[in-house]
Amino acid sequence: MPTYAQRVVPFGTTIFSEINELAQKHNALNLSQGKPDFDGPQVMLDAAIESIRTGQANQYPPGYGIPEMRQAVADHAQHFYNLPITPQDVLISSGAAEGVYAAIMGVVNPGDEVILIEPYFDVYLPIVEWAGAVPVFVPMRPPEWRFDPEELRAAFSEKTRAIIINTPHNPTGRVYDKEELAVIADLCKEFDAIVISDEVYEHLTYEEAKHTPISTLPGMFERTLTVSSAAKTFSVTGWKVGWIMGAPELLTGAWRIRQNVTFAVNHPGQVGVACALQLGADYYDAYHAMYASKRQILIDGLEAAGLKVSSPEGAFYIMADFSDIFDGDDVDFTKYLISEVGVACIPPSAFFSPEHKHLAKDHVRFTYCKVDDVLLAGAEKLAKLRAK
Ligand SMILES: Cc1ncc(COP(=O)(O)O)c(C=O)c1O
Repeated sequence: MPTYAQRVVPFGTTIFSEINELAQKHNALNLSQGKPDFDGPQVMLDAAIESIRTGQANQYPPGYGIPEMRQAVADHAQHFYNLPITPQDVLISSGAAEGVYAAIMGVVNPGDEVILIEPYFDVYLPIVEWAGAVPVFVPMRPPEWRFDPEELRAAFSEKTRAIIINTPHNPTGRVYDKEELAVIADLCKEFDAIVISDEVYEHLTYEEAKHTPISTLPGMFERTLTVSSAAKTFSVTGWKVGWIMGAPELLTGAWRIRQNVTFAVNHPGQVGVACALQLGADYYDAYHAMYASKRQILIDGLEAAGLKVSSPEGAFYIMADFSDIFDGDDVDFTKYLISEVGVACIPPSAFFSPEHKHLAKDHVRFTYCKVDDVLLAGAEKLAKLRAK
C-alpha cells in the first residue's frame, strides 16, 4: 500500500489536536488557541465584503500582492518604525506561517544550520527540516525567559545560515529589548547569517516594553526577512493575510517559493487589510487598552487560583507556573485542568526540543484573546483549583 513521505514521519498528530479533542469532549472553556472570539475593525470587514460584492476581488491578484496592500505595508513600516521601505521590499503571503515557510525555503540551503530559540512557534522546526537544514536549539529559561548570550554565541558557526526569532513572543510574552536584539544582530553580522523575524504581535506590548524590529538596527535590513500578518493585529486569524519585508535579494528567494506553491493570496482579504493598515492612532490605542485589560483579568484569575505568573511584556499569552498546586508535568496538568476544572490551555513543552523540554514542565500557556465574559468565566472555573 502506498504511504506518506519520509519527511512527514517525524511530525505526526500534534499535542494541540489531542488537547482540542479533549477540550471538546469535556466541553472545556478554551483558553488554548491564539484565536480571538471577536471581530476586527468594521471598515476592514466592509472593504473586503464590498470587494467581493462588486466583483473587484474575485479573481487572482498579482502574485506579489495587490499594489495598495504592498503600499500600505510599506507605509505602516515607515510610520511605526521609520523604515525607509518601498512596495518593492514587500511580498504578501498567506499569513505569517506561509511567510515563514517561504522565507526559510527561499534562503536556506540543504546542510545549513538554522538557530531556533526555544520555546519556538511549532511550524518553524518542520520547515527547517524540510529545507534540508539542521536545527540548532538555544533555550530561553524561566522565570524570565531570557536566552544566555554565551549559549547563543556557541550555537553560531560557519555553517549558520539563519536564525529565526519571534518578538513579541509566543508563548512567553517576552519582548526582546535593544540589548538582546543587539546581541543577535552582532552575531549575525559576525557569522554572515540572516534573521527571519516573526513579528505577528508587533502591536501588542505593555508598560515600558517596546517592540523594535531587528531590521531597524544598523546593518540589519539587508540581512533580515521580517514576517508579520493581519491575524492578530486586526483579529482576522481566518483570513490568512500576511507579508514579508526585506531587501529584494532575500525577498526574491521567498517569492520563488511562494509563486510555486500558492502563487497569490486571498484577494478580498488583501483589500480589507490594505484598508485596516491605514487606520490611525485611535485604532491602536483602543486595541492596546482592550488587551491590557484582558491581560489583567486573566492574571487576576490565575493568581487567585494559586498559579504563579509574571506580567507578560507582550503578545496575548500568559505562561503560568502551577508547581505550587499540582504534582506532575505540563501535559499532565493540562489534561487535569481540562477534565477536572473545565479550562483548556497549552502545554508548552511542545515548543521545545526533547533536550530542553524539561524547562517548560512547570508551566502552561493561556491566551486572553477572548471576550471578557469568557475570561471571567474561565477565572471562576480556575478558582476551583484553590478549593481542590
Ligand atoms: C508566533 C506566530 N507566528 C505566526 C503565527 C501564524 O500567523 P498567521 O495566522 O498569520 O499565519 C502565529 C499564530 O498563532 C504565531 O503565534
